[in-house]
Amino acid sequence: MVEQARKFGILISGRGSNMQSLVRAAESGFIPARVGFVGSDRPDAAGLAWAKDRGIDTFTVDYRRIARKMRSSGKRISAGYGRSSRLAAESELLQEISSRGCDLICLAGFMRILSADFLSQVSPDRLNPRVMNIHPSLLPAFPGTDGYGDTWRYGCRIAGCTVHFVDSGVDTGPIIAQRGFQITPGESLESVKKRGLKLEHQTYPACVRLYFLDGLKVVAAQQGRLQVAIG
Ligand code: GRF
Repeated sequence: MVEQARKFGILISGRGSNMQSLVRAAESGFIPARVGFVGSDRPDAAGLAWAKDRGIDTFTVDYRRIARKMRSSGKRISAGYGRSSRLAAESELLQEISSRGCDLICLAGFMRILSADFLSQVSPDRLNPRVMNIHPSLLPAFPGTDGYGDTWRYGCRIAGCTVHFVDSGVDTGPIIAQRGFQITPGESLESVKKRGLKLEHQTYPACVRLYFLDGLKVVAAQQGRLQVAIG
């Protein structure tokens, strides 16, 4: 069998249900590329074990271990331990990724902010971004870690998810796709999360498929903001 040339890597921190949907979509041929690796910032991420069992190349860059090590060795730069340990962790992450190589990195519940420095190395061309993310709200509303919770607590009538390219802001990069759904009166947060996640599992693979079919173009639009043109 001829190995598919194009590949993508996935970064996770936890359960990895979006990662599973991407892996399955690549295995079925829906995404015309293969999964080159799954990486995590936590050795105990459940999704990591799943990927390993599936025979996927996996690695961990343990951000917390790196932070502990730096604190105990007293190493820090003037900006403080937090920044130094993130730089050290990102440098390991870069090594793991570069040694494997990939066309695209998909963040799938990866709970770390990537620095502008790191992004400029893995994704140097603004018009050809190479890092994607799935976020559990209709951005730009409710960036951060609890998109469905924030949407539900605010009393919104519509919840949803967003797939976007990653820039150095928090959930601010060019939007690729959004899917929304009506929150029914009295609906529980658990139900909103469940319905949202189901939509995520459809939306993310569809965006990665488009990426590998060369169906996504990034253009500078009004006020210099980048936008994604599809098709
Ligand atoms: C998803 O809701 C995703 O949108 C967000 O983090 C969650 C990850 O879930 N970024 P999973 O690990 O993919 O199951």
